[in-house]
Amino acid sequence: MEHERIVIRRGPRSGRPIIVAVHSTALGPALGGCRLKEYDTWEHGLADALRLSAAMTAKCAVAGLDHGGGKTVVALPRGAGFNRTAVLHDVGDVIEELGGAYATGPDVGTGPDDMAVIGARTRHVFCRPDASGDSSPATATGVMAALRVLGGDRFAVIGLGHVGADVAGRLLAAGHRVLVTDVDERKRHLFPAAGWVAPGEILDAEVDVLVPAALGGLLTPAAVARLRCRAVAGPANNQLDAPSTADLLHARGIVWAPDHVVSAGGVVYATEVELHGATPDAATARVEKIGETLRSILNRAAAEGTTPLRAAENLARSRFTGSG
Ligand code: PHE
Repeated sequence: MEHERIVIRRGPRSGRPIIVAVHSTALGPALGGCRLKEYDTWEHGLADALRLSAAMTAKCAVAGLDHGGGKTVVALPRGAGFNRTAVLHDVGDVIEELGGAYATGPDVGTGPDDMAVIGARTRHVFCRPDASGDSSPATATGVMAALRVLGGDRFAVIGLGHVGADVAGRLLAAGHRVLVTDVDERKRHLFPAAGWVAPGEILDAEVDVLVPAALGGLLTPAAVARLRCRAVAGPANNQLDAPSTADLLHARGIVWAPDHVVSAGGVVYATEVELHGATPDAATARVEKIGETLRSILNRAAAEGTTPLRAAENLARSRFTGSG
């Protein structure tokens, strides 16, 4: 068993499965957002929590934070309503019981207002509106820093959620050519200056960099075979269906910037502001360092003839063994 602690509880108020996975506290208290999402079964939600919390351990380690990884998943049944406040209070109670071993933040399906509701039950919560607030702009800042390292002029952004839409807007503002897609057709009018591509066709887009900003699991062997970009870098968590897919990308000469390196901006910003008293400007400067981190990972991968994933894993490992 790799995870330190997993709590699964049918929320006493909400009746919904509340899943909190604490992957590691070796470097410090675990951090990771609270995901509110529909799943076929709660076991699928558990599988997501296990993977996402492990990725948070790697994310915090590579970003140089003295924190481990965790994640909360509320596995909502498909098509059924739910009492949001009840769910969030159930989440807050579980986190409070963990006594500070894990703190949460916003994630897919939650935002700063939800963090305030969780905050009624526990103080182990980041990004409340009266604290550091929305972490999406900081995540987008980190993505932009990563994209500058990769260079290029043509981008395809997959998913126009909080972070994806922000990144698309910034790329357009910087004068780049941008294609966008989202499973929600209504978003096709969000960026008149960008080209719209149907979700099923975006993998074939001939661009410099593909920017996954939707849900995970996008990069399968079949998807990799279709790609016509030279790099993939975006904030979506767990982009690879399996670690071995990083080798397929490498074999095709496509540079894959590990998602846990690219997406650390939110957690870096929130901890800098809320735990270390950083000003927004200072915290943003720290987020920009994601560019340097990615550059050194890509350089090491090239020098050692290995994939960026392995180079990032080596960097993370060096933090646990103290050899970095
Ligand atoms: N969703 C964020 C992530 O995956 C989680 C988070 C953000 C946690 C901000 C704490 C503070 O990195």
